[in-house]
Amino acid sequence: GPRPQKGARGLRFTPVPPNTRDAVTVPDGYRQNVVIRWGEPILRGAPAFDPERQSAKAQAGQFGYNCDFLALLPLKGERNRQLLVANHEYTDEILMFRDYDPENPTREQVEIAWAAHGLAVVAVEEEHRSGRLTAVGRHHLNRRLTATSEFRLTGPVAGSDLVKTSADPTGTRVLGTLNNCSGGTTPWGTTLHGEENFNQYFANGGRATDKRYGIGTGATERKWERFDKRFDLAQEPNEVHRFGWVVELDPYDPDSTPRKHTALGRFKHEAATVRLTHDGRPVVYSGDDERFDYFYKFVSSKRMRHGSGRAVREHNLSLLDEGTLYVAKLTGDSPAGDIDGTGKLPNDGEFDGSGEWIPLATATAHGAVSHVEGMTAEEVFVFTRLAGDKAGATKMDRPEDIEPNPVTGKVYVALTNNSNRGVGSHPKADEANPRHANKHGHVLELTERFNRPESTRFAWSLFLVAGDPQDPATYFAGFPKDAVSPISCPDNVAFDTHGNLWISTDGSALGSHDGLFGVATRGERRGELKQFLTVPTGAETCGPVVQDRRVLVAVQHPGEVDGATVARPASTWPDGPGSYVRPAVVAVWRADGRDIGV
Ligand code: FEO
Ligand code: CA
Ligand code: CA
Ligand code: CA
Repeated sequence: GPRPQKGARGLRFTPVPPNTRDAVTVPDGYRQNVVIRWGEPILRGAPAFDPERQSAKAQAGQFGYNCDFLALLPLKGERNRQLLVANHEYTDEILMFRDYDPENPTREQVEIAWAAHGLAVVAVEEEHRSGRLTAVGRHHLNRRLTATSEFRLTGPVAGSDLVKTSADPTGTRVLGTLNNCSGGTTPWGTTLHGEENFNQYFANGGRATDKRYGIGTGATERKWERFDKRFDLAQEPNEVHRFGWVVELDPYDPDSTPRKHTALGRFKHEAATVRLTHDGRPVVYSGDDERFDYFYKFVSSKRMRHGSGRAVREHNLSLLDEGTLYVAKLTGDSPAGDIDGTGKLPNDGEFDGSGEWIPLATATAHGAVSHVEGMTAEEVFVFTRLAGDKAGATKMDRPEDIEPNPVTGKVYVALTNNSNRGVGSHPKADEANPRHANKHGHVLELTERFNRPESTRFAWSLFLVAGDPQDPATYFAGFPKDAVSPISCPDNVAFDTHGNLWISTDGSALGSHDGLFGVATRGERRGELKQFLTVPTGAETCGPVVQDRRVLVAVQHPGEVDGATVARPASTWPDGPGSYVRPAVVAVWRADGRDIGV
């Protein structure tokens, strides 16, 4: 086992030094294994992975591509087993196919890509007397949902004219989920999945609303519109309004149709995470990952019920259909002249201030009400970014994951970077986004008034201003900077049972690979950030799940480096030279079997 280390409880490990190895590296005394890779069969009848003979039918029964959000849920009555739920955000055809011609994808290649998107549910089992975690093939709860599976639109937009198409005149039945990035686990045993960069799949946009969502005017890079007209806005203008939602999946019911909850608004949802009010109503936080976009919360008007009967489950699956959607506005407490765009701390010693949740629209059982002048409630929910613009919300540096700390209730927002802040005519630095051309990002800590998640007022401060700690424009909650790991581009966040914040990164601008970091949020070690692992060449660290005895990460897009192809791989992780690079889930545990970091 590892030698005893100083640090906050849960973070007593030797930090992993920054590196550029084509490997997952973990602290001394820790072990790892690959739990499941892209292409491993999980459903009955699915064949073993054979990248030279891949088919859409095979892929639909196999683990998908580019795993992102992960949840590990209990499996009652099954010893040493848990249920893994994973997002498959997107595909990288150049690394999936030996003969891919980006100008002329084949129908089979496109259909494989559809089958490699979506969600996966797969039982996992801990090997007897080792920390290894392996997938259980053909478990009755194993499931794949893809870009062609059936989903149901629920909430205030279901049935609206804005979401009707020629294939679905009811405006309630959608085929597929796309670009599921991060997500969340609910207290009632379901999972939430954010549909993020859905704009890239749709061709021939042109309306002002399309433009605000980054939907291009010509062909798409993927060219799916050649194979299914619903991806061509010139032919199906409303199909794009059926993506960009938060999906809820009941992973314990393999026959259930997952829902797209329209009351949570439509934008590039990075994640959706839940905290309950004292009277049992869920509050869901969600960020919109775009430069100068907003973060939001939804406060349900319905209370969660306890129990596992069908009526209780049905009730809980409707919790996110009624309530109010809010957007965040932040005001700094230092004079504007104190914020010069370099990241220098203001004279009061902190980037901090107060904030307001501005209501945008309320959905009820009897209809929906808009709180934004000039927009109907349906428009607010479908064109939520425009509602945020009108409400005067604060333009942030790419809000990625946002999550409440289950121990303290404080909410953490990862702001990954913003190359355009203060550049040209773009908005200048403010106290909540204090660096121009922000390369390394920051993490905001938000305290709801009276620590109640439904409050409409909050206080905030920057918890971390990321970068090389030797760079004066960095800040680690006031902790001495000679004792912390360098970090760049915070993306996904998670918490352990001690209330420590775990942060994974995407696109480190420090010349080393991305990784996973733990940092104390309380006590005298608050701000002591330590790197726990690094990921292979070209990969982003996703997922993270931190249990007492195990850490799980999704290694997303390994080998994604300009110019890399199957024939010229930048990475051959996890199986080494001569093999296809494969996105995969990795488990890490202590060799001596004790808890992580104690
Ligand atoms: Fe898919 Fe914002 O990361
Ligand atoms: Ca201040
Ligand atoms: Ca992300
Ligand atoms: Ca990201």
